[in-house]
Amino acid sequence: MLDWSEPSSETIARNTLPLAPAAAGATGLEDIDRNGGRVSVDDKAMINCRADVNQLLPLKYRWAWEKYLAGCNNHWMPTEIPMQADIALWKSRDGLSADERHAIKRNLGFFATSESLVANNIVLAIYRHLTNPECRQYLLRQAFEEAVHTHTFQYIVESLGLDEGELFNMYREVPSITDKAAWALKHTQNLEDPGFSTGTPDKDQAFLRDLVAFYVVFEGMWFYTGFAQILSLGRRNKMVGIAEQYQYILRDESIHLNFGIDVINQIRNENPHLWTPAFQDEVRSMIAEAAELEAAYGRDTMPRGFLGLNAQLCEQYMHFIANRRCAQLGLAPVFAAADNPFPWMSEAMDLKKEKNFFETRVIEYQNGGALNWE
Ligand SMILES: [Fe+2]
Ligand SMILES: [Fe+2]
Repeated sequence: MLDWSEPSSETIARNTLPLAPAAAGATGLEDIDRNGGRVSVDDKAMINCRADVNQLLPLKYRWAWEKYLAGCNNHWMPTEIPMQADIALWKSRDGLSADERHAIKRNLGFFATSESLVANNIVLAIYRHLTNPECRQYLLRQAFEEAVHTHTFQYIVESLGLDEGELFNMYREVPSITDKAAWALKHTQNLEDPGFSTGTPDKDQAFLRDLVAFYVVFEGMWFYTGFAQILSLGRRNKMVGIAEQYQYILRDESIHLNFGIDVINQIRNENPHLWTPAFQDEVRSMIAEAAELEAAYGRDTMPRGFLGLNAQLCEQYMHFIANRRCAQLGLAPVFAAADNPFPWMSEAMDLKKEKNFFETRVIEYQNGGALNWE
């Protein structure tokens, strides 16, 4: 029942006090401080920043601005890539084995919704709590790139005449895909509470966990098995249109990953009290757990393996990648040293060097200087 009586002075005082969460960091939508002084670069910080987040300049984090420029220089659209060869092969009776078809469909199904999950996490969780305008500038660019990636899967489904419900609902129907999405979601759900805000060690660590789950694990580990599967087919001249699209996605994702690593490391440098030995162990366990989920996905997508690719090699690749991510975060490796079973993947990332990677049309999209984030 609603209470229409006059509020007590105590209630008024309570309701007009700034809410604890809002005090932690600025969103940029607060009332304008008409007497606010100009922003000094030293006032800028990654999280819990009180400097005006609506003022891009003066720049503090040049690495974030450079990644924004690199993303813009890499602009591409999926519809620019011809799909005729893929359509012919997909419709042919014996151009692809049953195992290849199974892996392709599961692969597309995983990516189709993962791009949206990543985009939603950026826009609805990360953006609000990263209180730096140059980092937000990059997030806006990244959010658009995730939209382009989702568009890619719409374009593939339409081109090949795939069952859209089968592909886009796969993350709810195929347990090995559901398990990965659910694992990442539990970290973003911590931030979903409207009352959540950074500003205490516990909350700041929850934010860091979300960054690890999405940037390091989702984009930095789980996408890589998928890239290896499709690019391996492309190297054998199969599904060359999709392979070319994946090559562009991979190039975007390697910047996303490296932006995330820089963000985490910068927050750690500014807030060393968050990076406790216990928290480092937790991050290492997250990476190890994620590698195990990926191994299960590999077994599910490639129960028998096909031409040079199988679940065991993908697991070895994941161990190699997991150790590399640990090194990028200044952490001890989680697995025994593993060789990279797919050395050609690093070539696939450098479009300038490998123009004939798929012996197909390659557009030179990069119109700035060559950048290699891996
Ligand atoms: Fe993406
Ligand atoms: Fe991404």
